[in-house]
Amino acid sequence: MKDYLPYGRQSIGEEEARRMRDVLESDWLTQGPKVVEFEAGLNDLCGSRNAIAVSHGTTALYLACRAAGLGPGDRFLTSPITFVATANAGLLCGAEPVFADIDAKTFNLDMDEAIRVVKQDSRIKVVLPVHMGGRMCGMEQLATACRENEVTIIEDACHAIGGRWRDSTGAWHNVGDCAFSDMTCFSFHPVKNLTTGEGGAVVTNDDELASRLRSLRNHGITRDPTRLKEGREPWHYEMHDLSLNGRLTDFQAALGLVQIDKLPRLKKRRQELVRRYDEAFADLDGVTPQARPVEDDSCWHLMIIRTRGRTGLYEHLLEKGIRTQVHYIPVHTQPYYKEHFGTRRGDYPVAEKYYAQALSLPLFPDLSDADQDRVIAAVREFHQAAGDG
Ligand SMILES: Cc1ncc(COP(=O)(O)O)c(C=O)c1O
Repeated sequence: MKDYLPYGRQSIGEEEARRMRDVLESDWLTQGPKVVEFEAGLNDLCGSRNAIAVSHGTTALYLACRAAGLGPGDRFLTSPITFVATANAGLLCGAEPVFADIDAKTFNLDMDEAIRVVKQDSRIKVVLPVHMGGRMCGMEQLATACRENEVTIIEDACHAIGGRWRDSTGAWHNVGDCAFSDMTCFSFHPVKNLTTGEGGAVVTNDDELASRLRSLRNHGITRDPTRLKEGREPWHYEMHDLSLNGRLTDFQAALGLVQIDKLPRLKKRRQELVRRYDEAFADLDGVTPQARPVEDDSCWHLMIIRTRGRTGLYEHLLEKGIRTQVHYIPVHTQPYYKEHFGTRRGDYPVAEKYYAQALSLPLFPDLSDADQDRVIAAVREFHQAAGDG
């Protein structure tokens, strides 16, 4: 079988295996003391007050929407360029999706457009900005508009953990400090910046939301004596909400703790690789990488380029043993959305044009310079043959 270079993969070593083995040999496998430690590690990393570790990024987004009180009759706004899980989280609450077009250079929501829609539509209760590939959205602008309209902001930072960005006063923010949002959601899927196999988390500075999230992660059950309505027996628990089992296991948390320690090194390598790609493509007319912030300390999850010959390039790279991906098929063009919400191709032209040109090249911390050079040479070869170079 041909040995393909993947577009993303985890970096897991002996230390992760050792720490997971310790948990597997202990008495506690499901959510327990390691999850508590992992949550403390996430708070340190993000600068947040509360972290709630859950089973998947999808669960994080769904429970965050539930904690925000999103339900039937409400609407939520997100980007058409995201994984379906972002918008599905709102749908699973019974709410109706609203999209706004994207910015052609950052691939994030066009914030002017998103704010215009939020101000016009009083049924929008939640906005989910998505930090595509690790690039932060314009959070300050959005926060001002949402505060005025009593709209909850849930950041989909599934791509962005470990990054920092600078606000308009010059202050640096860690992704997940929730300085301009109510909650931030992460995914720890293997290709993400840090992994627990499958896993996710919500971070928030709001203690009330945190308490709701903890209960929603555990079937809507509470044991908090200040909240109990009826019994006082030592075994007593009460279900106050309808929810599911969204817990992470302790052995996954042990893996995540090692990954948090490694994240600075993993981030540095991701940044180096992105810089090398950007430099290599600077003179290539047919290739435009995602726009970087002026002072960039993002933890880049994806190396997304726009290219005129996207499908041809995808096939050319595959022939050379290099796998790439397309992030993402616009959500509003998915059959389910078209059938249930009447969205149509043509609704968000910037997003659709982006989709026709987007390709994510291999980017992961263990990608060697030699393998990256092979990708760069193959991209250049394709474009030079097309007369772009
Ligand atoms: C932007 C975005 N949102 C949500 C998710 C869902 O995360 P998970 O796969 O951990 O459920 C992902 C990852 O797959 C993602 O990339």
